[in-house]
Amino acid sequence: MTESNAPVAAPVDQYAEWARLRADQPVSRDPGGPWRVARYDDVRHVLKTHGDFSSLVSERMSEDPDSAPTMLFTDPPEHDRLRALVSRAFTPRQVAAQSQQIEARCRALMADFASDERADLVTSFAAPLPVGVIATMLGVEDGDFVQFKHWSDAIFKNIGDILLATPNEASVKAADEMRAYFLDRIGELRRSPRAHLLSDLIQVDTEEGRLTDDELLMFCFLLLIAGNETTTSLIVGCTRVFHEKPELFDHLKRSRQGIPDFIEETLRFYSPFKVTLRRAARDLELAGQEIAKGELLLPMIASANRDERVFENADRFIADRSPNPHLAFGLGIHSCLGATLARLEGRIAIESMLDQLNGIELVDPTDPELDAFGAPNSIAVRLDRAA
Ligand code: HEM
Repeated sequence: MTESNAPVAAPVDQYAEWARLRADQPVSRDPGGPWRVARYDDVRHVLKTHGDFSSLVSERMSEDPDSAPTMLFTDPPEHDRLRALVSRAFTPRQVAAQSQQIEARCRALMADFASDERADLVTSFAAPLPVGVIATMLGVEDGDFVQFKHWSDAIFKNIGDILLATPNEASVKAADEMRAYFLDRIGELRRSPRAHLLSDLIQVDTEEGRLTDDELLMFCFLLLIAGNETTTSLIVGCTRVFHEKPELFDHLKRSRQGIPDFIEETLRFYSPFKVTLRRAARDLELAGQEIAKGELLLPMIASANRDERVFENADRFIADRSPNPHLAFGLGIHSCLGATLARLEGRIAIESMLDQLNGIELVDPTDPELDAFGAPNSIAVRLDRAA
């Protein structure tokens, strides 16, 4: 294994706290709160056993007559139908066809990003890249792009309340505007199909049926929620590792074939999707704890990925770790539909950094935004530009 001797930044409290939970309280909760599931085997079990651990987590959304279900928050058989329909337009071949647009987008963003010695990694590169990729897949016209990014931000920033409480005014307004925009687009695309994912989804017509306008709309929302901030976090995570282990930047610049393993280890080490949600479908027991039907659980993916019972030297970044059975993309019926796309975007983003730069550093490696839930809003970096 290639492993440098340079120390990784001291684990922030969050990682220490998860290590404590894994050791002493693998399934625990604050009074009245959801159950935190900290160990790898338990997280794996919860994600795989969808009959016991339901994805119908949002009472508000299931009761809202205007809201079509999004597959992330549904159980079989509804989930199976939606996933089968959507998967038709989300095949590895269709994802591979995105390479060119991702490369072009990366090059354009990188040209601006790398033009100064100091820049904002998030606003100049790591956030616009995935939003742009998804916008293209959904056929959002260039002129509507800024608006689309604004809706996406307003909705994601309020996602906890959207699911479990009362959404704020800004997210309701953004959702209404986005709904009107896409219903209009869907109508147009039914009349004159185009060559992009949304148009392909509209054309899907199989034994499982077709997607209704509301289901198509919910899928647009889901891509925004599931595909944007996570990919931004992956790019930020890779940059954080380059800051902590600059010799890896030099190593990958010389041997590009190491990039896929480097990305897998970053997904494990700085998992973008830290925690997900499930609801107990019956009274059950998990790691010795009695959990009542209806109670919420938080399978902590980022903690599972640091579990020393599964990963040797779990708190060390080992760029070519093998095997690397991380759970960063989930597991089971809800495992990430966009994993191939995320890996492709990650690889192209890293390649373009390696092409344009000789190194990249965080201005403030203790910035708490680095470990926030969801992607940071802004991360200042210093760039060493390639001649
Ligand atoms: C590094 C980037 C990404 C990470 C770490 C990630 C992680 C995840 C995880 C952990 C889940 C499962 C959640 C659960 O079981 O509760 C998931 C589901 C999903 N992801 Fe991703 N994701 C990423 C990027 C993307 C992208 C780029 C897209 C699409 C554009 C996408 C689309 C989806 C969809 C549609 C689901 C729901 C699948 C289902 O319910 O059957 N993701 N993702």
